[in-house]
Amino acid sequence: MSATLKLDFVPFSAAPKGVLIVFCDDGLKFGTAARAVLDSAGDLIKRAAEAERFKGKHGSTLEIVAPAGLVAPRLVVIGVGKVKDLKSESWVKLGGVAMGKVSSAPEATIIADLPGGAPKPERVADMALGIRLRAYAFDRYKTKRKDDDETPSEVTIGIAVSGVGAVQKAFASRDAVASGVLLARDLVNEPPNILFPEEFARRTNGLKKFGVSVEILDVPAMKKLGMNALIGVGQGSEHPSRMVVMRWDGGKKNTPPVAFIGKGVCFDTGGISIKPAGSMEDMKGDMAGAACVVGLMQALAERKAKVNAVGAIGLVENMPDGKAQRPGDIVTTMSGQTIEIINTDAEGRLVLADVLHYVNKRFKPKFMVNLATLTGAIIVALGHEYAGLFSNDDTLSERLTKAGLATGERVWRMPLGPEYDKKIDSKFADMKNTGGRDAGSITAAQLLARFVEKTPWAHLDIAGTGFASPQSDVNKSWGSGFGVRLLDRLVADHYEK
Ligand code: BES
Ligand code: MN
Ligand code: ZN
Repeated sequence: MSATLKLDFVPFSAAPKGVLIVFCDDGLKFGTAARAVLDSAGDLIKRAAEAERFKGKHGSTLEIVAPAGLVAPRLVVIGVGKVKDLKSESWVKLGGVAMGKVSSAPEATIIADLPGGAPKPERVADMALGIRLRAYAFDRYKTKRKDDDETPSEVTIGIAVSGVGAVQKAFASRDAVASGVLLARDLVNEPPNILFPEEFARRTNGLKKFGVSVEILDVPAMKKLGMNALIGVGQGSEHPSRMVVMRWDGGKKNTPPVAFIGKGVCFDTGGISIKPAGSMEDMKGDMAGAACVVGLMQALAERKAKVNAVGAIGLVENMPDGKAQRPGDIVTTMSGQTIEIINTDAEGRLVLADVLHYVNKRFKPKFMVNLATLTGAIIVALGHEYAGLFSNDDTLSERLTKAGLATGERVWRMPLGPEYDKKIDSKFADMKNTGGRDAGSITAAQLLARFVEKTPWAHLDIAGTGFASPQSDVNKSWGSGFGVRLLDRLVADHYEK
């Protein structure tokens, strides 16, 4: 079972405890603080490195059990490659690598030192972020320990640094972001019998303690607003739909907010256009967009971001039932535009159509970014490496692309245009909810575009990245929490003053 993580920043002078972790470059050189600790081990590392052909390449590791001359039970040397090539994100990764090597030890000390001098406080803080992201495991529903499970209930990691105060200060904001990512992962990993719309909405109340205002709208309230597209998706479920509007006002009074909107389909059976059984259980993750918005709002509030931000999520369960929506139904959205339902499995766009319009009308935001596990087609196009980015605004697109490269939560811009838009014109209504097999992710985005008017807007299709994405040094979880770091970065780099 997973252990609680305790992170301590200590001065270089403190005596290391537990597993000892040090960094070297690709010339097997160490920093002064690391050398001081390793001194008593003589040429042990040199010999071990030769034996293992360890060259100090970025992210590679050399492990020595019961190292002669040291009190540590285990010594782990982590290669950083060339020091001059190290970026913020490299340090996040190194933190993940280090945490992976702590394994089942209850205690470890990482000497955050490099040849040529100790890294900047921000880089050490990045490493600590990587440690937190890597340490996450979702095992709430495992009641039995395996015989070989040696995991302690608490893991204490001491990070030895040159200036404790500066690192602590730099870590505070990253700590908040890490908590936001882990919250998003938790929500995505929860099973759908536990996390249905009402329960999801209830959990957003947890953000109030960070100063976020939380409004929960029930079905009658949404009916009054005319949100029939969202309501239609949820009408076949025993679990009533909800919309949650979260607000963090950390910016100047009376300046328009930035807005984040999430698809929160707590389970997507496809409805009457029911999905095949294979992997249908994955559709508990069809609320990853909403989970990201909640994690992001918490992160912004906890780190007291100097921005006004709105987070809005549409929470529904898409079920087949006597009361369920049918193919052929026509719904009138809050915007007044009508949509003919062709396939009840194209439900995410229906939910977002109403939430996007609601947010745009009520808040007149600076921009809107929505996240949604919207189409299987985006996985065909981009696999699990990049989220699809669709946008009516080049500046917003560029900023998102850059934030993606900086955080490793990468996005790839896809086209929009009138030729694609035509494909969702309907014989009977203003539009239909599917545009055929071709360009499936684009026609889905075109439908959303009809609900944002002139507001700068970006849609992130995270079907390939929100869950079941490739495991990395900083993520071993099914639900990845994708988007929290990306959008936190977008806000931090461009919308705070
Ligand atoms: N939630 C799915 C998309 C999805 C598929 C997300 C696989 C993650 C993994 C979405 O609601 C959906 O069913 N989309 C359909 C649209 C089609 C009916 C036009 C799809 O992609 O097949
Ligand atoms: Mn669907
Ligand atoms: Zn869906």
